[in-house]
Amino acid sequence: MRKLLAILAVITFCVAANQFVACKSNTSSTESDSGNDSLQKVLERGKYLAYHVANCMDCHSKRDFTKYAAPMIPGTDGEGGMEFNNKMFNVIPGSVYAKNITPDPETGIGTWTDDEILRAMTQGISKNGDTLFPLMPYISFNRMAKSDLLSIIAFIKTLKPIKNKVPDRKLMVPMSMIYPANALQPSIDSNRIPPETDKVNYGRYLVTIADCSTCHTPFDKGNPDFSRAMAGGNTFNLPDYAVTSANITPDSASGIGTWTEERFMNKFLPYRKEEAYNFKPGKENTIMPLTYYAGMKDEDLKAIYAFLRTLKPIHNQVEKYPKK
Ligand code: HEC
Ligand code: HEC
Repeated sequence: MRKLLAILAVITFCVAANQFVACKSNTSSTESDSGNDSLQKVLERGKYLAYHVANCMDCHSKRDFTKYAAPMIPGTDGEGGMEFNNKMFNVIPGSVYAKNITPDPETGIGTWTDDEILRAMTQGISKNGDTLFPLMPYISFNRMAKSDLLSIIAFIKTLKPIKNKVPDRKLMVPMSMIYPANALQPSIDSNRIPPETDKVNYGRYLVTIADCSTCHTPFDKGNPDFSRAMAGGNTFNLPDYAVTSANITPDSASGIGTWTEERFMNKFLPYRKEEAYNFKPGKENTIMPLTYYAGMKDEDLKAIYAFLRTLKPIHNQVEKYPKK
């Protein structure tokens, strides 16, 4: 019993200090497994979110654009360097590069405290005080429950450190004009994960932290037009192909109003297997990170479907593969 209390004290301390990983390595193997088990659960949750829902690993690793849906290049986990620019997506005023978020002390975030990582993720403020371009989805992560944020932080600190210096961004507009202060809650402490039984709200939470909206909500004069949320129509120009985001509102004619849950699941499930994406697709390729989202649990994908059904149907006929 005393031992159990001691372990609980360690865990409570670790949670309070946000030091899951440091604490984990201090946990000696003679202690009972219960402490390790719960730390293990935190890391598993963090990994799940980082690879399959909040998709840190989609933007912050390298993707192989010669294959369908551009899967991750193995071994590049978190090293950064992917460029997002004006040519690819015209609402980006310049070039922005996903940073190295591995624990490498020189080129990654190895010297950052958990609070500094948390601030970057939820307020878009880097360690040195610079504000981050909002393509990094901190507006969405600002709505994430603290326990999920801390799980992700604990997990990314276990990534293999990779030395990879990422170029500085080049913006044609000062960041002070872009920083979306009004869209951010100053505190994230009241964010909650809705119970999974509340399918629609749980789905809304997943859609928020998976940031479906950045690609699927059309932009109007450089800002997302939320009166037409998820109506699609943003074109992405990649070197070998162009693709426009689909209308995923429940409009029957131009959206996914006629899609059954099964059809929706079939948009994702095949990409759990390599043969589904390991081919050269030519012009009909997609930038949607399907190979990442495919790792979501069935129940989570079903909750996303349930939530999308509740959106306002918007008529917007999209041509997915515009002529290039
Ligand atoms: C849609 C792409 C995208 C996704 C998804 C994404 N990021 Fe980022 N992230 C970026 C970009 C781009 C930057 C650099 C922004 C800049 O330079 O202004 C960045 C910057 C950061 C930084 C600041 C690093 C530094 O050196 O300043 C951290 C930390 C970070 N991201 C962590 C995460 C985590 C953790 C997740 C997942 C929960 C995540 N990101 C998901 C694109 C993304
Ligand atoms: C990086 C941009 C991006 C993100 C993020 C993204 N999508 Fe997409 N999505 C696209 C593009 C582009 C298409 C059109 C090409 C295709 O079918 O893959 C698309 C197509 C779809 C389709 C097919 C609709 C049809 O009519 O064929 C569904 C369903 C969908 N997205 C759902 C989602 C959901 C749910 C999320 C969040 C979990 C999401 N997308 C996140 C870019 C994105």
